[in-house]
Amino acid sequence: MIGNVVTDTARQARRPGLRTALVVGIAGVLGAGLMAGPADAASTLGASAAQTGRYFGAAVAAHHLDEPAYVATLDREFNSVTPENEMKWDATEPVRGSFRYAAADQIVAHARGQGMLVRGHTLVWHSQLPSWVRGLSTAADVRTAMTGHINALMSHWRGQIHSWNVVNEAFQDTGARRNTVFQSRIGDDYIELAFRTARAADPDARLCYNDYYIDDANHAKTRAVFDLVRDFKTRGVPIDCVGLQSHFNATSPVPDNYRQTIERFAALGVDVQITELEIPGSGAAQADDYRKVVNACMAVARCTGITVFGIPDHYSWRPYATPLLFDSEYNKKPAYEAVLSALNAGGPGPVPARS
Ligand code: G3I
Repeated sequence: MIGNVVTDTARQARRPGLRTALVVGIAGVLGAGLMAGPADAASTLGASAAQTGRYFGAAVAAHHLDEPAYVATLDREFNSVTPENEMKWDATEPVRGSFRYAAADQIVAHARGQGMLVRGHTLVWHSQLPSWVRGLSTAADVRTAMTGHINALMSHWRGQIHSWNVVNEAFQDTGARRNTVFQSRIGDDYIELAFRTARAADPDARLCYNDYYIDDANHAKTRAVFDLVRDFKTRGVPIDCVGLQSHFNATSPVPDNYRQTIERFAALGVDVQITELEIPGSGAAQADDYRKVVNACMAVARCTGITVFGIPDHYSWRPYATPLLFDSEYNKKPAYEAVLSALNAGGPGPVPARS
């Protein structure tokens, strides 16, 4: 049934005027497609999320797509993918004006072939940025490079990406702007320019601001992102969603006010997506924390989807932390069962799931 999702979503995405309803459309298709209600507990992550009109995704790497166990787990469990590195600037435009899409295309083709949604990650970020961008010295040149990069990537995948991380990690933990080449050359307005450019490049994609350490409403960085979203909404600058990366660990645990943080973002008029979820561990404590995160998302209608930052532990960017839902033999960990039951018990998403 998930096979219908991309077909219908892609069809919706090509039709004008449906941008603001895209995730609602996804939710409707997911819910209608499965024809399952809470009484019919689904047995995979994607199917259980779809019951409430949400997606459950994984970050994937193109170079693992030739591994049968990896692909079997991806295809069975998930209904959304995020390329972990393949859409970043160093991968897609290593030389100015010379674009490489093959690795990311491989992920997008696989996902669409399986009826999965695709999240785009990421257009404007200070890391994994080619040296030619960092070396640009004038505002005009950085502006041209940034808008050119956004236009090229969003045009290449127009109608195929349900949500794009337009700007990633623009703030320091203090709430001050991070001093990137974009910030130092263009100034504060670069985020607005990026979002306006993105809206024009693919009017059907959801446009997200994505960051880590914005999971606690009381942190200075979270407050800075609240302010950004409020300002954009007040002035009519396009923004549709905020991505909470949610890289949790012992020094940055799941905050007690996580659900309230999601609610506060949603109250500003944007969707919330949990975009890079990982929690170290292997037993009951990890499972409890994963459950807490999923319950928080399920409690807020505008929390529209969750992405874990990899599939088996050994392919995590922090493999020693074993932060994912599958061990390195692709066995389901206790956290997997906790997530599945929390998804099955979840409250309605952006539109009530049809049953
Ligand atoms: O590009 C080279 C490649 O040519 C070489 O063959 C390979 C050999 O190991 O290394 C490749 O680069 C690595 C790249 O991942 C692709 O595998 C980099 O050294 C490595 O630093 C890079 O790490 C990525 C990291 O972002 C960079 O900051 C991780 O895989 C990726 O999981 C991580 O993801 C970020 C999110 O995008 C944003 N949020 C934070 C998160 C963690 O930093």
